[in-house]
Amino acid sequence: MSEALWDSPLPIVAAPMAGGPSTPALAVAVASAGGFPFLAGGYVRAEALAAAIERVRDLGRFGVNVFVPTTAPADERALRAYSVRIQPEADRYGLRLNPRPVVDDDHWSEKLELLIAHPVPVVSLTFGLPDPGDIAALQHVGTHVLASVTSPEEARAAHQAGVDGLVVQGPDAGGHSATHDPTRVPEPIRTEDLVARVRAAVELPMVACGGVDGPDAVARLLAAGAQSVAAGTLLLRTDEAGTSATHRDALTDPALTETVMTRSFTGRPARALRNGFIDRHEAHAPTSYPAVHHLTRDLRRTAGEAGDTDLVHLWAGTGYRSAHTGPAADVIRWLAEAS
Ligand SMILES: Cc1cc2nc3c(=O)[nH]c(=O)nc-3n(C[C@H](O)[C@H](O)[C@H](O)COP(=O)(O)O)c2cc1C
Repeated sequence: MSEALWDSPLPIVAAPMAGGPSTPALAVAVASAGGFPFLAGGYVRAEALAAAIERVRDLGRFGVNVFVPTTAPADERALRAYSVRIQPEADRYGLRLNPRPVVDDDHWSEKLELLIAHPVPVVSLTFGLPDPGDIAALQHVGTHVLASVTSPEEARAAHQAGVDGLVVQGPDAGGHSATHDPTRVPEPIRTEDLVARVRAAVELPMVACGGVDGPDAVARLLAAGAQSVAAGTLLLRTDEAGTSATHRDALTDPALTETVMTRSFTGRPARALRNGFIDRHEAHAPTSYPAVHHLTRDLRRTAGEAGDTDLVHLWAGTGYRSAHTGPAADVIRWLAEAS
């Protein structure tokens, strides 16, 4: 039943983007242009994911991304100290931060159960590797399983765990780094160089992503050995994306002039537009994920609703200045121009 993404008409993938941007409407638009769409299964309950899947099921060609739970316990002292530090930010909105670490597996078991009971063509895994038995169970129902990796070492581990392919993410990517170790900040490297290094380490088909800013970047990544190329940031401002107004506006705000890697919002390294929150707190942010994510969540949501870009995680890759408005299908066709 499954259709691997390397059989897609165009070698262009819409990267999964949790927190709103990846909508079923975006998936339909991407597929209509010949690209391969992903739904983002992170941060949603299994029921909501099931509903999104049913809206794209007829496409026949799509993937679903899920977060592999982080098992390391939170550093409670560091979390408390960080909570005290950022409370004055929350005071601006009358919010009281809760420093107690929230234990959370992002509903991993429920989503796995769903994806086994109602199989989808492709599942991609982010933030680590599950039990190899879980990978085998997905494959058993006809699903191709991809692991997101950020180094040749992670690629080797994914190969050993039995996945069918890799999403090789360079550090120029917008949003969270897929690193399997949240305490590590991925070292700077061009995505095409990372692809070449991973290709030398393991023989698996690869989707390359990170910092794609147009068709030339796509051509470079394909030449480096990737079977297809994923874009996230370039889709954020498109008509069908569910990106918030605050995030959309920030991408063109002349005051926000660069992206940086930060763990200040969630405890995991992620690339975002540099703003005041990062400048004030980055040096003090603990490495505890998802505890820091939960600590700052209400503050980020409230500030986002108020259009306050100073306190929001404005995920963006280095190519953000090339993110344009208009139909997503146009972006997908444009990216494939040079390949
Ligand atoms: C807003 C946003 C949300 C993201 N959410 C996810 C996610 O849920 N799962 C995931 O594997 N990657 C996520 N990413 C990373 C993308 O899948 C992809 O690796 C990245 O966008 C590629 O780099 P680019 O943004 O430079 O194109 C997200 C990226 C952004 C910008």
